[in-house]
Formats: sequence, structure tokens, C-alpha cells
Amino acid sequence: MIYGRSMKILRNFAVFEGCDGSGTTTQMGLLRKRLQARSSPPFFLTSEPTDGPIGRLIRSALGGDAGLAPETVARLFAADRGEHLFASGGIAERAGRGELVVSDRYVPSSLVYQGLACGGDLPRILNEDFPAPELIVFFDLESETALERMKNREKREIYEYPEFQARVGESYRRILPSFRDRGTLLFTVNASGSPEEVAGEVWRALSHMPILKA
Ligand code: TMP
Repeated sequence: MIYGRSMKILRNFAVFEGCDGSGTTTQMGLLRKRLQARSSPPFFLTSEPTDGPIGRLIRSALGGDAGLAPETVARLFAADRGEHLFASGGIAERAGRGELVVSDRYVPSSLVYQGLACGGDLPRILNEDFPAPELIVFFDLESETALERMKNREKREIYEYPEFQARVGESYRRILPSFRDRGTLLFTVNASGSPEEVAGEVWRALSHMPILKA
């Protein structure tokens, strides 16, 4: 069993996942435009790490300056996620009152990245009580292509090197089916296409959510 004991699915909540450089953030921007052009449903697009106090600490750890142990980083991601989900105006409240909530990264990122960075059971234990999303879109991209896309970025984060990224894709493919086995809808999009092509695939995937069918 890879993803924990929680069987709870949070309806109206979708998540984008993929290796660094797979284009999830670009697609959040295109999704925002598409949703703004419709009169419903109300929506909330968000991301992890968040821009709250714990998320900012994580960003500095990802920059490599904080020198934190991988286990500490795993705990910070889980703490940031707890706030993101359960704070007032957070994911759970909004999805519960009928907003479409989409997050750029969530629990699967911790299982994959912290699973690789710390090993052992800690990432799973830290995340097992969080609800599963109703739908996951996995942005599938060869790590060579992703690294090529990232090569012009000014500063690399701690996970953005070839050996690690090659294992990220592999780990996603191993871990994501455990979400599907517990009732999450899982869609894989070919992230090597143009932003518009990928946006079309993403929209077709999201259209399986009842909130977008209504
Ligand atoms: P991003 O700006 O590409 O989303 O970068 C976030 C980085 O943080 C990316 O390398 C993935 C990593 N990450 C984790 O390691 N664990 C997590 O739980 C999350 C949400 C992100």
C-alpha cells in the first residue's frame, strides 16, 4: 500500500502533478483563462508550496540556502498542506461549498519527491490523513525534455538535476495508480505538446468531474 489509510475523497478538488518543467504552472494559467470565460462554477486555483509562511520557508529550503535535513523538508511540506487544506478559506472549505478547486501539486508530490529524498515511510505517514483529490492530471514528460526546458532558468532548485528528475517520472508512474485504486480519477496527459494542445487534454480530463458537467 503506497498511499495511506485515508479513504476520503474530497469532491470538487483536482490536482496537477508532474516532474519539474512538465508545464503544470503554464497550464494553471491557461485553465484560469478558460474558467474566467465561463459563468460557472466558482473556482479557486492554487499551488503548493503555498505562499503562506511555511510555504515561504520551503521555497528558501528548495533554493538550498537553509541546509535543512530532507526529513525536515518533508515535515514542512506536510505542515504547509495542513494549512492549505484546513485553514479558513482553504481547500476543504471551498470545495465543500461547491467551488472547483485545482492545486498545482499536492500529496503525490510529497510521496514522490520526499519519498526519493528521505526514503522510508515518513512521507507516507505524514500525508496519510489528508483527503485524496477527486481527480489527478499527471503531466507525462521525458526527464530529458523537462531538463532542456529548464536549462535557461536562472537558479536551480535542489531537486532540479538529471539523476533525480529521471527517478521522479518513474516514481510517479509507480505511485499514482494507488490513488486510482482508492477512487481518484487519474488522467495522464502528454506534456510534450504545445501549451494549447496540452490545455485541450487537461480540459478533457477535468470535464470528468461532476462539477464541470452540471
Ligand atoms: P514548482 O514551482 O515546480 O511547483 O516547484 C515546487 C518544487 O517543490 C518541485 O521541485 C516539487 C517540490 N515539491 C516537493 O518536493 N514536495 C511537495 O510536497 C511539493 C508540493 C512540491
